[in-house]
Amino acid sequence: MSFIHLKSKVKTILSNDAESTEQRLKEVCELLQSSVGYYDWVGFYFAKEAEKTLHLKAFAGEPTDHVVIPFGKGICGQVAVSNKNFIVSDVTAQDNYIACSITVKSEIVIPLFKNGKNIGQIDIDSHLEDPFSEEDERFLEWVNEEVAVIL
Ligand code: SME
Repeated sequence: MSFIHLKSKVKTILSNDAESTEQRLKEVCELLQSSVGYYDWVGFYFAKEAEKTLHLKAFAGEPTDHVVIPFGKGICGQVAVSNKNFIVSDVTAQDNYIACSITVKSEIVIPLFKNGKNIGQIDIDSHLEDPFSEEDERFLEWVNEEVAVIL
């Protein structure tokens, strides 16, 4: 499915006020994971500023042990601090990386901003090496902007 088609589906999910925010986020994760061949795990982490930790709020794919990640640790923790997109084409080349599964070869993490503040992120793992492009970055930035509206 093209990103254009996915955008309209994401909008439909997020506009469903009858469902909780968590449920809508879960459905977005499921949509992306099942529609984009190289998105094997999709999740949203949100920051607890006081604790300086990220907490997994919704995901699709294999359950992970890493439901709480300290700021600075792993790809996710680094994005919590840098406020910048992070594409890892080959996870074995990263020193500061938290492995969830040996099948994961690459990862993309895009920060989620609300009123200009980095409050969380979308994290996607792929079983392919180097599948992510600028098109994914622009699409996922858009997803995060839409999610920020309902938070
Ligand atoms: N690999 C991530 C940890 C989260 S899992 O991908 C679900 C990281 O290094 O931050």
